[in-house]
Amino acid sequence: MSSNLQGKRVLLGVSGGIAAYKSIELVRQLRQFGARVDVLMTEAAEWFVTPLTFETLTRQPVRRDVFQQWTEAEAGHVTLAEQADIMVIAPATANTIAKITHGLADDMLTVSALACPAPILIAPAMDHHMYLNQATQANLDTLRSRGIHIVGPDQGELASGIIGYGRLVEPDVILGTIRQIVGNTGPLSGKHVVVSAGATREPLDPIRYISNRSSGKMGYAIAQALIDAGARTTLITAPTELAPPVGAETVAVDSAADMHEAVTSATEFADALIMSAAVGDYAASEISAEKVKKSDDDMIIQLERTVDILATTRREGLVKVGFAAETENLTEYAMKKLQTKGVDLLVANNARQAMGSDENQAHFFRPGSDPEDLPLMSKHDLAARIVTELASLLQARG
Ligand code: CTP
Repeated sequence: MSSNLQGKRVLLGVSGGIAAYKSIELVRQLRQFGARVDVLMTEAAEWFVTPLTFETLTRQPVRRDVFQQWTEAEAGHVTLAEQADIMVIAPATANTIAKITHGLADDMLTVSALACPAPILIAPAMDHHMYLNQATQANLDTLRSRGIHIVGPDQGELASGIIGYGRLVEPDVILGTIRQIVGNTGPLSGKHVVVSAGATREPLDPIRYISNRSSGKMGYAIAQALIDAGARTTLITAPTELAPPVGAETVAVDSAADMHEAVTSATEFADALIMSAAVGDYAASEISAEKVKKSDDDMIIQLERTVDILATTRREGLVKVGFAAETENLTEYAMKKLQTKGVDLLVANNARQAMGSDENQAHFFRPGSDPEDLPLMSKHDLAARIVTELASLLQARG
């Protein structure tokens, strides 16, 4: 699966808490996204999970003891730390956090944290009172002030049975945070991109609306690909079933008019706009304040045109990417949209194939050149292609 973790080296420190079982799932996901993972466990972590579990998933030996590693050329006591693209400590107990804060180095995890020049992400997990204790809070503040990233903890039921702060954040949130941190040095770092997603809803009365079958998957995949590439990403989303990617500034909207307002305000200082939302072209001329009651007669609903957001959002220097969802005459309609919408790139696809699917077979239309037919690929892979294209468009603009 396409991600910015492909070929990256993640050094994962696991310290001793019950949440250590969640880092098994984190490793699985990191591997799925193409990262090499080396695991370091504290002695206490081995009470909760076995090294063999991590070794099976990572295909790398788990390291714990500093002196065992001392002379190994491949993995000397600081070699892994020096080679890592990011170090992640999950779960990080109060004890491990305290040791790292004070520069103690008495096992492979803490030695590596001290020796690692790459970004470090800490995901704390502990008892509620240990987390709220001034010592832990002061340690976390110190780490933050040194540029170490902290994610979580969550609130919820803890191992002790009490409800409070101290739960390790879920593996997909840690993964998303890793992607965001790795993205910081990506080709779109310093750029602000606005992406829209989902199907707008045009209300008829308090409980009914007109909408379409768009799932939002393409737009959400683009938002993730933008974050992977380091862009500040604003995701303007009509209602969907999807979780926004970690790091996206999400603006939830409902109707085409809401989306228009949100896009106008978000693009004021943005570098690019990608309209992947399926925006309603018509809205009810009148919205009933109360539920419309049925009668024996047929019903005619008067609809009026909504604003074409993509066509009307124009600003000097704003790079625009649009979509064309077609069920026939794709090339003819796409060429027309390329012109009328004033876009730098138009991604055209067969709506019957693409809507709701995890895959998309798209065609790129660019002003002044022949269309490029892309093979059927996952929406995540297509999103990465679109973002690469956007990066060169932005570079060309200087
Ligand atoms: N779009 C928009 N505002 C609208 C309608 C569409 O910004 N009111 C954008 C979509 O987000 C997409 C592009 O315009 O990027 C093309 O959308 P599409 O639904 O394919 O075409 P329409 O312009 O709606 O025209 P038609 O429905 O006639 O094909």
